[in-house]
Amino acid sequence: MAIQLGRGEKPFHIVSPLLESLPLSKVAGTKVYMKLENVQPAGSFKIRGIGCLCQEAAKKGYHHFVCSSGGNAGLAAAYAAKKLGLPVTIVVPSTTSQTTVHKLEELGAEVEVSGQVWDDANKRALELAKTEGWVSIHPFDHPLVWQGHSSLVQELKDSLDTKPDAILLAVGGGGLLAGVVAGLQEVGWQDIPIVAAETRGAHSFHAALAAGQLISLPDITSVAKCLGAKKVAARALECAQECQVISQVVEDAEAVRAVELFLDDERMLVQPACGATLALLYEGRLQRLQREGRLPTPLGSVVVVVCGGSSIQLAQLQALKRQVGLE
Ligand SMILES: Cc1ncc(COP(=O)(O)O)c(C=O)c1O
Repeated sequence: MAIQLGRGEKPFHIVSPLLESLPLSKVAGTKVYMKLENVQPAGSFKIRGIGCLCQEAAKKGYHHFVCSSGGNAGLAAAYAAKKLGLPVTIVVPSTTSQTTVHKLEELGAEVEVSGQVWDDANKRALELAKTEGWVSIHPFDHPLVWQGHSSLVQELKDSLDTKPDAILLAVGGGGLLAGVVAGLQEVGWQDIPIVAAETRGAHSFHAALAAGQLISLPDITSVAKCLGAKKVAARALECAQECQVISQVVEDAEAVRAVELFLDDERMLVQPACGATLALLYEGRLQRLQREGRLPTPLGSVVVVVCGGSSIQLAQLQALKRQVGLE
């Protein structure tokens, strides 16, 4: 169900552009539309769901937000808090770059560093959220976050003449997946297959699907840190029962190479989390899934969710390339 905002109350996200990509279409052998979430305020799709959760929390009278996030969810929460004129504490793991911490502070957030991975930071955030009047803004595991994200599918329905044959997206904790599934169910498109990308070392969704239950990865070893929830939301597994979700794991090097190719092809710089999804196209995964009979042949069109990410600059891309052995 669409969120009912109060009179005069607008969501914080924009209706993002949907563009056909000739280079991506060529490489994938099918028409590829890019849903450009990288141009959202705060740099990713996260503002859709986090913005929605923050607006609802403010309406309920909470007066301080706390969010555990190694980056984009935190940036979205800081952006929403600033819009609402409320204070926010962002708890980040120590792997978060100084540039991101600086960006959060520039948005007026108080930043606390706790632990080495997101799960550690989240424990601390939940502790802080017990303070009177404070509320936890979960980066991916909340129905309002999913409802906010679902607006992306409504926009696809509004702008596409024909239903796409697949939607490609990244999975971290599973919030984007849950939102897209909610949106597909809302518009009656629940038969569209979703290809869900993760990097090896952050593949908690893939592991859960294989085991048929939630699995906690021992550690996050991928460079795509913002896909690094050791355990996905329970809702992510349910989604795989309600829709056709094809899980794909790509290597870090493939995700980073996809970031670089996409920069050349479309002149936009995104994080490796987003590169994981783009790698599905650049590494011929769609064609492989077609050969395996897991996706239809031919495909009319597919939509790739360019989820974005603010924690990336040219120098970091160079460093990532060295780190994964591309240079
Ligand atoms: C750029 C980017 N893409 C994808 C994801 C994964 O989203 P989710 O945790 O909702 O699965 C994140 C999460 O932080 C992200 O920042």
